[in-house]
Amino acid sequence: MKGIFITFEGPDGSGKTTQINLLNDYFKKRGREVLLTREPGGTQISEKIRNVILDPENKGMSFVCEALLYAASRAQHVYEVIIPALKSGKIVICDRFVDSSIVYQGYARGLGEEMIENINFYATQGLNPDITFLLSLPAEVGIKRKSKGGELDRLEQEDILFHQKVYEGYNKLKNKYKRIVEIDANRDINVIHSMIVEKIEKYEKEVSYETNYCHSS
Ligand code: TYD
Repeated sequence: MKGIFITFEGPDGSGKTTQINLLNDYFKKRGREVLLTREPGGTQISEKIRNVILDPENKGMSFVCEALLYAASRAQHVYEVIIPALKSGKIVICDRFVDSSIVYQGYARGLGEEMIENINFYATQGLNPDITFLLSLPAEVGIKRKSKGGELDRLEQEDILFHQKVYEGYNKLKNKYKRIVEIDANRDINVIHSMIVEKIEKYEKEVSYETNYCHSS
């Protein structure tokens, strides 16, 4: 059985964690093995890099350094965890992936999409998600939700203009890739979950059709 690589994207505070946990339960009930992971992080080395990136004390970090650290953390994550899990047939659900770098570093920081795509080509070994759920939410709402939860990390502490650019960046990106499914994060939690499940079941049907009828010769 082939694994499926599912990523969740969206602005800070868009409710990704809640949906990831619901999706994990859904797959487990179906008897599928799931690997839940996140970026930046997911391995011991990547979590150490995460601490450096998000530490509010590291205010002097250059945008290029930031982009490279996200990519470095990802390179280890893909190599050590994601590729082996997919090869063994697991469902991999990852909280953020390259799309976050394109939107946050490429678009909101202004480094440009091309540079981010280039460095991440090496980091991911060319691996792309099969499905990406984009939980979209206006910047102000997301940041308000996050602020209620306690201390903000270095990225969350950026001003509202930065978060508005993140929102615009996701809007641009969603039209570029067919794998991105946009869902309004303001909807009811269970409604969002049902939409996600519906999309996954459609994807699985398409893949099994292709496997059975298109590659048989
Ligand atoms: P995290 O606490 O995981 O945020 P969230 O719960 O909203 O996912 O912190 C990750 C932060 O790093 C978040 O603000 C988005 C940002 N980020 C990037 O800027 N580039 C990236 O490539 C990734 C993966 C995350």
